[in-house]
Amino acid sequence: MIVQNAWYIAAWASEVTSKPLARRICNLPVVLFRTLDGQACALIDSCAHRGAPLSLGTVTELGIRCNYHGVVFDCTGKCAQIPNQDIIPEKAKVRRFPLVEKDKALWIWIGDEESADETLIVDYPFHDDPQWPSRFAMSPVASNYLLIGDNLLDATHLAYVHGASVGGSDPNVHMSAESSLKPTARGHRFERLMRNAPPPPAYSACVTFADKIDRWQEFDFIAPSTVLQYSGGVPTGVDRATAGAPRFDMRIFHSATPATDNNCYYFWSVQNGHDVHDPAATDTIYDQIESAIVEDKLFIEAQQLRVDELGEERLFDNAADAARIMARRAVRKYQKAHEPDCGNA
Ligand code: FES
Ligand SMILES: [Fe+2]
Repeated sequence: MIVQNAWYIAAWASEVTSKPLARRICNLPVVLFRTLDGQACALIDSCAHRGAPLSLGTVTELGIRCNYHGVVFDCTGKCAQIPNQDIIPEKAKVRRFPLVEKDKALWIWIGDEESADETLIVDYPFHDDPQWPSRFAMSPVASNYLLIGDNLLDATHLAYVHGASVGGSDPNVHMSAESSLKPTARGHRFERLMRNAPPPPAYSACVTFADKIDRWQEFDFIAPSTVLQYSGGVPTGVDRATAGAPRFDMRIFHSATPATDNNCYYFWSVQNGHDVHDPAATDTIYDQIESAIVEDKLFIEAQQLRVDELGEERLFDNAADAARIMARRAVRKYQKAHEPDCGNA
């Protein structure tokens, strides 16, 4: 299931230049490029002349030139030039997609254009906040895009999948976390607190803790597929609101864009909140999170293959699935509100 009437990240803003970039989004081929004056554009990746991919083309002053027979289309999809011909036929146009540059991301809308309400785009001011230096990544994952949120919201996987990185190897730390789950306008907020826990390897790689810590993880799920995470730790018993060093402070932005039914682009970024002026500290957090994402990808892709083969009907939910189930409910609610004809009851 893919929600069509939603904003998804097509690319990080820095990925799109005047060199065309091909992406498949919601099962459609899309070409992304910037005009020579820097405007980001998204068109269907197929020329209206004989169908060749525009992503094999070249950006010129007038727009993107198909490099098969030279027809040019502007950012709105209108034909701007046909070599050696003045008359532009009615059919000489390609579909364009609404594309908004915000918080260092390019958000695309594939569904009904008249429903493309820009106020629905997730806010993430931390991408532009010097107090939270960021690094950005995109990991292709061979799974349905909803499995990314599923993974993030069942934190009991941390000790098994991420024992050597962000989890730490004691499952009890995660099983016994104090947690709360509160609905929000488009999802929910899921908070976890692990008191007196050993610092996991990823935290120790960044900050030296003498002993155990109080760890927090806070997730804001925003339907259909964005999770804003804030995680950190301070020495056990120290007040997190006022604690200076040693403390570990990290934000992670996660957003999954459906490519096909069983492939997605996992856009993620990390923000360093504890060693703001040291770019090497941001790199260290990034490396730790990148390892964790590789660990997740292994499980999610293998899970998708088994579900494809054996179906979902045989699967059960346990107590730790509450946040994941609530997220799926929020996706259905979003879809019902924005795609009333989708048949989702
Ligand atoms: S297919 Fe693009 S110009 Fe002919
Ligand atoms: Fe994970």
